[in-house]
Amino acid sequence: MPSIIAGNWKMNGNLDGVGAYAEALRAAQPKASLIVCPPFPLLAAFAAALAESEIGLGAQDCHARPSGAHTGDVSAVLLRAVGCGYVILGHSERRADHGESNAEIAGKAAGAIAAGLVPIVCVGESEAQRDAGEAEDVVRTQLRHSLPAGFDGVIAYEPVWAIGTGRTPSAADITAMHAAIRAALVEQLPEAGARIPILYGGSVKPDNAASLLALPEVGGALVGGASLKAADFLAIAAGAPSV
Ligand code: PGA
Repeated sequence: MPSIIAGNWKMNGNLDGVGAYAEALRAAQPKASLIVCPPFPLLAAFAAALAESEIGLGAQDCHARPSGAHTGDVSAVLLRAVGCGYVILGHSERRADHGESNAEIAGKAAGAIAAGLVPIVCVGESEAQRDAGEAEDVVRTQLRHSLPAGFDGVIAYEPVWAIGTGRTPSAADITAMHAAIRAALVEQLPEAGARIPILYGGSVKPDNAASLLALPEVGGALVGGASLKAADFLAIAAGAPSV
């Protein structure tokens, strides 16, 4: 299976950058599957600019319910209708800024799956939790409670302390964590657990992508800052192992 390289634009970008970015991605022949996750107001423009291409489109959040009186929220049904195939859920910035609980994330993931989207559920420990030797326990607990029964999608392991900091865990720590995540998924999800892709996220850049993407059980990357420039995003994708 080719690596998945997903770009999380967070609250960045603007309409006037969509055309050139989409064109650059369309012109490339990446070894990896690319997914772009811009802010909500850019989704429709991206859907048009990426039409008839292999490049995936994702949002950065959704509500658990398909419609209703939820001011400011966006449903997975509508995301699907405007052309999304994916949605990032439970990113640590949403867990921190919006107090999202594991149970809430599980509800959103169920809503996303019901609407036909592939959820990319994020998990990861804080620096204090890693220093206390609790990283794997924290992530196992997040998996147990933020994936609905019958979950099928993508997991992104993103240590909170590696996001936007230029720091990454050691190869040994990433390998150990991805093995622990795989074991938990197999136990928790008899149907899909063995094949769910596990992405690594946190300060993935063109110069470290190849070594990170070569690690066992690393099925791709969730890229923040370095996804904003098409050239950097494509350079990261070029680091994916050949299939
Ligand atoms: P970063 O962000 O690549 O800027 O560290 C990753 C993420 O938050 O998804």
